[in-house]
Amino acid sequence: MSEIKKIGIITSGGDCGGLNAVITGAVRMAHHHGVEACIIPNGYAGLYNLNNFVPPVITFGKVDRIYSGVAGSEAGHSRVKISKIQDPNKYEVIKSGLKKHNIDGLVIAGGDDTGSVVVDLISQGIPCVHVPKTMDLDLQTYSVGGDSTINRIAKFTRDLRTTGFTHNRALIVEVFGRYAGHTAFRGGIGADADCVLIPEIEVDYKVVYEHFKKTYIERLLTSDVKGSTYIIVAAEGLKNKSGEYFTDSNSGKDSFGHQKLTGGAAYIRKQLESYMKDDPDWPAFLKKEGIFVENIYSMPEIREIPLGHLVRAGETTAYDVTFGKQGGGAAVLLLKQGIYGVTVVGVEHNVVSYIPTKEAIKQRYVDINEVGYYEALGMCFGREPLEFTPKFKEHKGEIHRYM
Ligand code: F6P
Repeated sequence: MSEIKKIGIITSGGDCGGLNAVITGAVRMAHHHGVEACIIPNGYAGLYNLNNFVPPVITFGKVDRIYSGVAGSEAGHSRVKISKIQDPNKYEVIKSGLKKHNIDGLVIAGGDDTGSVVVDLISQGIPCVHVPKTMDLDLQTYSVGGDSTINRIAKFTRDLRTTGFTHNRALIVEVFGRYAGHTAFRGGIGADADCVLIPEIEVDYKVVYEHFKKTYIERLLTSDVKGSTYIIVAAEGLKNKSGEYFTDSNSGKDSFGHQKLTGGAAYIRKQLESYMKDDPDWPAFLKKEGIFVENIYSMPEIREIPLGHLVRAGETTAYDVTFGKQGGGAAVLLLKQGIYGVTVVGVEHNVVSYIPTKEAIKQRYVDINEVGYYEALGMCFGREPLEFTPKFKEHKGEIHRYM
C-alpha cells in the first residue's frame, strides 16, 4: 500500500445539494492528515484532460470560501463516461495526467454512471473511492442530494397549493428522478399531495380521475368560500400506455446515453381532461355551487408544472451537508487506509462503513409494500388501493441510522 500524499476530487453526473459538503469534507479531512487536495474540474472530462492544465490545489483559504450549504458543485460537472472516449490510450492518458500532478488517489462523487466509471478506473489500477451522490436516490446506499431534493419538491408543491386553491385548479407537479420514483414519492408525501405517480406503478388514469373528482368535490363542499384544488406529484420516469417514456421530440439523449425525460405531466393532464369532458357531473356540480359560466367555466382547469432543475438548486439541507461531509472525509480515510473501489455508506460511532461500488450502484426502486400504507391515509398512487396489512416486529440490537 503506497502512502497517499495528494488527492484529486471529482464531482460528476447531475449536480444537486451536498456536493460542496463532499468537497469541504474531503479537503478538510485531507488537511487534517497532512494530505494535499486538489479539485479536478468538470468531472471525467477534466480527468481525461489533466495533462493540459494544472488542477487547483485547495488551501485552507480556498476551502474556507466554499459554502457547504449551497447546491451545485465548486468542482463543476460533466456527463462523460471514460469508456465512451474513443481514444484507445485513454487510461494511459489519465494515468500520466495523475502522475504529472502527483495525484495518488481520487475522491469521486456521483451516481450510478459515475460509480460505473469508478469500477472501470479501479480495474485500470487507479485508486479511487466513490461518494454516493444522486438526487434520484436510486443507489443501494443513501446518496447525498436526495434529502435536499425531496425537501425542495415538498416546498415548491406546498407553495403551489395556494395558487391552485385560489384558482380552483388541479396541479400536476412533474419532478426529476429518472427511472425510479423515490423523489416524487417522498416529496409528494412531504407536501401532502393528493396523488403521487411513480414509474414503479403502472398508472390507471381512471382511478386517478375518480380520486381527483371525489377529493376536489369534497374539498370544495367543505370550503366556506367554495375553493378547491387537487395536487398530483408525478415522476418524470412514467411511461405512456405503449410503455414509452415521455420525451419532447427534440430532447435527445444526454452524454451518458440516457434519454432526456419530460412531458409526463402534460400527458396526465390530457388523460384527466378527456375523462372530465365526458362527465356530465361537472357542469351540474358547478351550477349547483354557483361557479358555472356557460362556455367559459364548465369544469375545473388542470395545469402542469415541471419543476426541472429547481429541485437540484438552491439550499442544501443540514442532513445533506452532514452526510456530504461524512462522505468526502470518509473517502479520504479509506484512500489512506488503502481501501479502494468502494462506496461510502456513512460514519457511525467510530466506524466508517462502505460497500463495493459495483454493489452500491445497482438500481433501487421504491418499495411497493410501503405504498399501501399511504393509500390507507387517503393518497392515490394511480392504482386501486391495496389494503396495508402490517407485520409487527420488536427491534432487537442496534438500530441503524445515518445520523
Ligand atoms: O440524474 C439526475 C437527474 O436530475 C435526473 O433526475 C434527470 O432526469 C436528469 O438528471 C436531468 O439531467 P440534465 O441536468 O442533464 O438535464
